[in-house]
Amino acid sequence: MRKSLQSFGLSLFVVLAFLTIAIGFLFGIDNPIPWIMIAVLIALPYIHKKLLSREFVQWDDKLSVGIGVIDEDHKKLLGLINNLQTAAHYHTGEAFERQALDELVNYTKFHFQREEDLMQANGYADFPSHKQQHEAMILEVGKMLDAYETDRAHTIERLCQFLKKWLINHIAGTDQAYAPYLHEKGVH
Ligand code: FEO
Repeated sequence: MRKSLQSFGLSLFVVLAFLTIAIGFLFGIDNPIPWIMIAVLIALPYIHKKLLSREFVQWDDKLSVGIGVIDEDHKKLLGLINNLQTAAHYHTGEAFERQALDELVNYTKFHFQREEDLMQANGYADFPSHKQQHEAMILEVGKMLDAYETDRAHTIERLCQFLKKWLINHIAGTDQAYAPYLHEKGVH
């Protein structure tokens, strides 16, 4: 719904801009208003692209925990979240959406297990509270997946927002907290 309103607003703006240009030139070729509107229309695709790119998450080396296999998992998870964001933004259809959701949920569980095994095998003291965070996240996602069955469009947006924020905060906080300890244990 929000996306439809945005598209409608953008279309309306473009139509009004063309009208402004046409009417503006009736007052003379040296009238600055139509020229300004032409410049805005030329810049519009660039502005749109910039705004759109903000919806997607990107890997940053600052997120690295210095453990190769875990960094690769995190990169893959960010990619899978972007897949879901693509499904939500471009209305790619239910089949693509469900596939993106399944892949993301399954890989998240796989990654959590891998990370938990690593922490537990190396006697990391904060392992229980870290595991608790993983479980709380899976629980929250489970609730949203239930809501998805009754309200697809709204829930997919909420899921994307939740996952982007949760994952980035978790990697940059809780995950990076174990890095020095595991490095000392020789895990890289
Ligand atoms: Fe990389 Fe604790 O999840």
